[in-house]
Amino acid sequence: MSNTTSRARPRCYETAIADGYSFRLLIRRNGDFSGISDLFGTLLFGQQEVVGVFTGAIVHLAEPGEEPLAYAMDSHSSGLGDCYGELLMEGKCLDEYAQLGDSDLLHLERLRILKPHRGRGLGNLVLASVLVLLCRSCEVAVLKPFPLQCSGALDPMASPEFRAKFERGRGKLVRCYSRIGFESAPKSEGWLFRYLESPESILGRTRSQWNRSRTIRMPEIPEELEKLAN
Ligand SMILES: CC(C)(COP(=O)(O)OP(=O)(O)OC[C@H]1O[C@@H](n2cnc3c(N)ncnc32)[C@H](O)[C@@H]1OP(=O)(O)O)[C@@H](O)C(=O)NCCC(=O)NCCS
Repeated sequence: MSNTTSRARPRCYETAIADGYSFRLLIRRNGDFSGISDLFGTLLFGQQEVVGVFTGAIVHLAEPGEEPLAYAMDSHSSGLGDCYGELLMEGKCLDEYAQLGDSDLLHLERLRILKPHRGRGLGNLVLASVLVLLCRSCEVAVLKPFPLQCSGALDPMASPEFRAKFERGRGKLVRCYSRIGFESAPKSEGWLFRYLESPESILGRTRSQWNRSRTIRMPEIPEELEKLAN
């Protein structure tokens, strides 16, 4: 199987994603855990202005590192540790996928866009770009929506009002990510997942979801993106 992310050398992709906006993605093997690659993305407005950031990771199930998977994911970050416990551990919904190790897992960790640039659907365009770029090596993508302004919400001491605010924000994010095909992962606390098909079908599905959306006008996804994925 061709694996676009398996080489040790960092790789960088850049693509236009909407009028005036481009997205740059850097993929780099983790220095401590060779079975994991880190993803760093920036959304640029014009030539240089960074207006959004994305981070994530590829867990190389098809080409694991020396460390046991659970140890590597848990030591890498709380996000990947939670991902292992909620999705990959025995009895969870992706456990067979982890054991088979036929292809890699894509974890979308954090996405933030500066306020003046929100409300145009750029967040899902960034995510769709990542899915298209990595769908040759990763068969499934996972994420746990978390309204970033509510970092204290899981604290047992958080007030009911704060928890309610968290749940409202989370609900909105779930609806937002469902527009590009993410659905609730069974037997997990708040995780979403989607299988990745061909670049053409990811783009096709993304377009049709946008057309149904009341708030977002679908920008054209340029051909370069499809070329990059091949
Ligand atoms: C998530 C984000 C990148 C999406 O940007 P976008 O593509 O421009 O889309 P929008 O900002 O219009 O957000 C889409 C929907 O999610 C809601 N939403 C986004 N972030 C939210 C948050 N932190 N709390 C509550 N709701 C949020 C928006 O209100 C909107 O809801 P609507 O469809 O009912 O109008 C951007 O809203 C953002 O940076 N949010 C703050 C950071 C954050 O919480 N990121 C989530 C990490 S999982």
